[in-house]
Amino acid sequence: MRGAEAPFYLAHGDECEIFAAAYGNGLPVLLKGPTGCGKTRFVAHMAAALGRPLYTVACHDDLTAADLIGRYLLKGGETVWVDGPLTRAVREGAICYLDEVVEARKDVAVVLHPLTDDRRILPIDRTGEELEAAPGFMLVASYNPGYQNILKTLKPSTRQRFVAMEFDFPKPEHEIAVVTRESGLDEGRVRSLVRLAGKLRGLKGQDLEEGVSTRLVVYAATLIAGGMGVDRAIRVAMVEPLTDDEDVKRGLLDLATAVFG
Ligand SMILES: Nc1ncnc2c1ncn2[C@@H]1O[C@H](COP(=O)(O)OP(=O)(O)OP(=O)(O)O)[C@@H](O)[C@H]1O
Ligand SMILES: [Mg+2]
Repeated sequence: MRGAEAPFYLAHGDECEIFAAAYGNGLPVLLKGPTGCGKTRFVAHMAAALGRPLYTVACHDDLTAADLIGRYLLKGGETVWVDGPLTRAVREGAICYLDEVVEARKDVAVVLHPLTDDRRILPIDRTGEELEAAPGFMLVASYNPGYQNILKTLKPSTRQRFVAMEFDFPKPEHEIAVVTRESGLDEGRVRSLVRLAGKLRGLKGQDLEEGVSTRLVVYAATLIAGGMGVDRAIRVAMVEPLTDDEDVKRGLLDLATAVFG
């Protein structure tokens, strides 16, 4: 394992073992979980630990199969075929990570199906090729079930092609370790920020659509470590990003004052 230079990732459970086992058996993996809980960092860490190149695609509602597979482009008067990130990963035996996969257009699922069952092939209609995935190729997809609406879910025939893992915000002791390491702030103040994060997460569903992410706690801690006052850092990193509602904001700031005393 070339794990030495892998980006820092603190495991919360057996996710690294599960990912490695899926990789070893050529199985695709689906990561579910709220924004900013460590999914992207986990994939970057695992790709480096397994010594595989990583191609990440941020999916959006205009993303088509051609964006993943490739297209003919005009280059100096000639048309040349240019591989998309998925095709490159299939050829090279890399990890292809489709972030927010539910956002992608429907034709993307059609492409993923033969790649994510035991065939492991990528048919490229435009060139007539049918690529067999190189050893080491792995498909990883993630999405946030919280944003789900009726139109944007994965079909059972797609989701049942993946080994799936649920991610959530870390336990306080883990989150303290993550935020301390990422921000360089002293553990005492990080502990208070994490306590506040726990309280803010308790408001999910009542006043807030989503609880505060670990990413935002890292932001607040980083700003404080850089010299910003605690009140201001909390306001800009842990309150304003969560809501536009003035009453809710005031409530969140009061909660912060209560936690920090
Ligand atoms: N277990 C962890 N180990 C190390 N860092 C973590 C961990 N969990 C969260 N982080 C920190 O939180 C930040 C946000 O995580 P990341 O970008 O991976 O979230 P995500 O789940 O991919 O979110 P999104 O769904 O919005 O893309 C990271 O940059 C990192 O600083
Ligand atoms: Mg991400």
